[in-house]
Amino acid sequence: MDFKILVFNLTKRKRGNVWEYSKKLLDHFKNPRNYGKMKNPDGVGRVGNIVCGDVLELAIKVQNNRITDARFLTFGCVAALGVSSVLTEMVKGKTVEQAKKLTPADISKEVGGLPNEKAHCAVLGFQGLKKAIEDYESKSKIKSQGV
Ligand code: FES
Repeated sequence: MDFKILVFNLTKRKRGNVWEYSKKLLDHFKNPRNYGKMKNPDGVGRVGNIVCGDVLELAIKVQNNRITDARFLTFGCVAALGVSSVLTEMVKGKTVEQAKKLTPADISKEVGGLPNEKAHCAVLGFQGLKKAIEDYESKSKIKSQGV
């Protein structure tokens, strides 16, 4: 699936020299939710974008196959920080299967859209979540095998 095309349909533009972000994204940037390192996470995803240099660490806690907590550490742009914060709220309460179905377009939509040039910031969040779930699933597999 070409996520870029999906995300572009939900994008906003740059006005003058200022990126146009939604109120929601700016609020999450200024007042990030669930920021910081998680103690004893069940899954951690660390991803980076080699082009812009932004990095994200997303950690999740899972109970009975449901994500009960999510925290993030992001070094990056306004959009990357806002996306990370919104994403932690999006995934809390979802089952692992529901979280796996989220796309960059869903994330972009949830933050109120992103400028075309910032579409990859939603992809960074998506990749962080994907890695965190993969980490959780691989640890669960090892536990269930009694290794
Ligand atoms: S500019 Fe790269 S994630 Fe935002």
